[in-house]
Amino acid sequence: MSKPVVLIAEELSPATVEALGPDFEVRHCNGADRSELLPAIADVDAVLVRSATKVDAEAIAAAKRLKVVARAGVGLDNVDVPAATQAGVMVVNAPTSNIVSAAELAIGLLIGVARNIPAASGALRDGQWKRSKYTGAELYEKTLGVVGLGRIGVLVAQRLSAFGMKVIAYDPYVQAGRAAQMGVRLVSMDELLAEADFITVHLPKTPETVGLIGEEALRKVKPTVRIVNAARGGIVDEGALHAALKEGRVAGAGLDVFAKEPCTDSPLFELDNVVATPHLGASTDEAQERAGIAVAKSVRLALAGELVPDA
Ligand code: MLT
Repeated sequence: MSKPVVLIAEELSPATVEALGPDFEVRHCNGADRSELLPAIADVDAVLVRSATKVDAEAIAAAKRLKVVARAGVGLDNVDVPAATQAGVMVVNAPTSNIVSAAELAIGLLIGVARNIPAASGALRDGQWKRSKYTGAELYEKTLGVVGLGRIGVLVAQRLSAFGMKVIAYDPYVQAGRAAQMGVRLVSMDELLAEADFITVHLPKTPETVGLIGEEALRKVKPTVRIVNAARGGIVDEGALHAALKEGRVAGAGLDVFAKEPCTDSPLFELDNVVATPHLGASTDEAQERAGIAVAKSVRLALAGELVPDA
């Protein structure tokens, strides 16, 4: 009898294939390339992806044998879950696998932008010893505004509290009492925009969150604010942010995600006070190993017809 086929459509940790074990035929393709993905997905039982592969209605319709879509990470915005459900395809993810890595990267961007680390480092490599130009701002006693106090937002809040920051948060789904236990004051979005010295976004991408920090919101912030988005591209509107940075209405930004990815050409990249990374939030050995093992286990269970427990 032939083995069930698992298609790995993006680079995943080697631990993923090990955790799948010998009972599957494992194939690989570049899922970001539709002309590779659509024929490759046609006769497989499971597909494993990160964030670059769009498992949309077209891909699901092309996948005649598909039983499971496994997302080695948190967000499901690149998977059409209703289309999958309608086709009887199970969707699994690894919702806690990379939260520490994502939180740590957001904090890295925040400190990088507060202290001009990439710009000063770039200047030094170009032979310029510029100390006063790259004078930065301390985090101590500043107000951190966390937009989205979910798993990652909480980790960021806890870690930056240890820097002596006052933490406020906007999250309509969190109880004030639960936030208070963490030393976080829940506020409205307008209060957060007006009070925060640093804003960090930790929301999923949904029709409600796209453009949440856009032109209107950016008119309400302090001109000294630094904004970090390591969640999903488009939640902070890139055009509005660029205008606010150019006009001195925002002091700096740290961006790991972009409305359209890959993004290698953006007017934001020309600004010295923007720190940008190529969607690296989950890109650590530890997070990738956890995500790969978690989704491999879920795929094994799902293809064996067993119950897949919530991660
Ligand atoms: C996630 O949603 O967990 C990340 O975007 C994962 C990734 O980078 O692939």
